[in-house]
Parts: sequence; C-alpha cells; structure tokens
Amino acid sequence: MNRLIWYGHATLGLETGGHSLVIDPFFSGNPAASTTADAVNPDFILISHGHGDHVGDAIDIAKRTGAKVIANHEIVTWLDTQGVSNVHGQHLGGGYNHPFGYLKLTLALHGSMLPDGSYGGNPCGFLLTTLDGKKIYMAQDTGLFGDMKLIGEEGLDVVVIPIGDNYTMGPDDALRAVKMLQPKTVIPIHYNTFDLLNQDAATWSKRVGAEADTNVVVLQPGESFEF
Ligand code: NI
Ligand code: MN
Repeated sequence: MNRLIWYGHATLGLETGGHSLVIDPFFSGNPAASTTADAVNPDFILISHGHGDHVGDAIDIAKRTGAKVIANHEIVTWLDTQGVSNVHGQHLGGGYNHPFGYLKLTLALHGSMLPDGSYGGNPCGFLLTTLDGKKIYMAQDTGLFGDMKLIGEEGLDVVVIPIGDNYTMGPDDALRAVKMLQPKTVIPIHYNTFDLLNQDAATWSKRVGAEADTNVVVLQPGESFEF
C-alpha cells in the first residue's frame, strides 16, 4: 500500500515501502500549506527544480532529519555548499534503485534558477516504480510536451500534474496531458495557492471524466490518496 499526501501547491508526501518521502517541500510562506516544515519527518526529500516554491524548506528539513536529498546534479552540488551533504544526484532520463523504489528523472519544460541566483540545471519530473510495482509520475512544474506519450507507455497507476496555468500547464493542456499519459488516476496540483493560480478543479475533473478513461482525485491540502 502506498499513500500520497498533498500538502498544498506542489508539495507532496509519499509513504511507500516503509519509507517516507517529501517532494518539493514548500511549507514556510506557502499560503496553501496544510502543515509546517517542523511537522514532517521524511527519510528522503525530492526536489524537482531550483525555484523557491520547490526548494522551499528542504535545507532546514534535511539538516533536522538527516533525510537524503535527491535532485539533479546541479541542485545537489549547490546543497552541499549550503551544508547539506547527504544527497544523491541524478539527471534527466536516468534511474536509480533507491531503498523506496526505482526513481527516474523525467523531462520538464520549465526553469530552475536557485533562490540565490545559482544555476539549478534542468527542471525534472519524477517517475517512481514502487517496491510493490506501482508506477507514479509526478510531473511537478511543466508545460505540456509530446514526450509525455513516452512516459505514458510505461503504464501509469497515478499521475500528479499541475493545472494552475501561468507558470505551468493550465486546465486545457493538463487535459491533453492526461490523454497522452493515460493513467488510472490523476491528481491535480499547483493551483489555488495564490489568486494567480486559481482554478476550478471540480470542473476540470468533469472534463477529464468525459474525455478520458482516467479517475480524477481532487484532494484538499492535507488529504491523501492510497494506491
Ligand atoms: Ni517553478
Ligand atoms: Mn512552482
């Protein structure tokens, strides 16, 4: 059994194979956050790109918990300069067998500058095969891209995608993404954090239900989905 928690914005928790992961841990300063950075105790932290709303509280949580941080090579190199040395660098297209499953970094169409202006490499999404064989794709911040079809060919149980528009896919392109990815379940994120990202997830859910063979799960911050 795997449990995915949406903490608000693009911040996720994943309990899988006896491990606890936090993805893009943005709690402090996140108006949608359902909890605080002090309340999470992951043993792994995943960072998709360098933007402040994704690096978030990663340094504080890593130092407090000793969690291993997984991100692209440029971000983990920068983290080492910030005093976080328990890291694992990967890069786009590369996978690795971690204790919680096989994690591959996927393409994402976005930026990645770090909060202090340092170069953050290329942004990524995460494709995880859990120890019990489930496949979850967390797209994190991205625009629509045609190679989502290739990711969909892996056979996806759960997909997490942004629908907020402006910085990422909006509802129209997110619907096109679902059609390419063809997951069993899709969960929308990166919306309703600020006014700029306001979207009607219920309406989007109805559109997906009418046009794709995918179950939509709309969570409120703090709620979770088991698979
Ligand atoms: Ni971003
Ligand atoms: Mn973002």
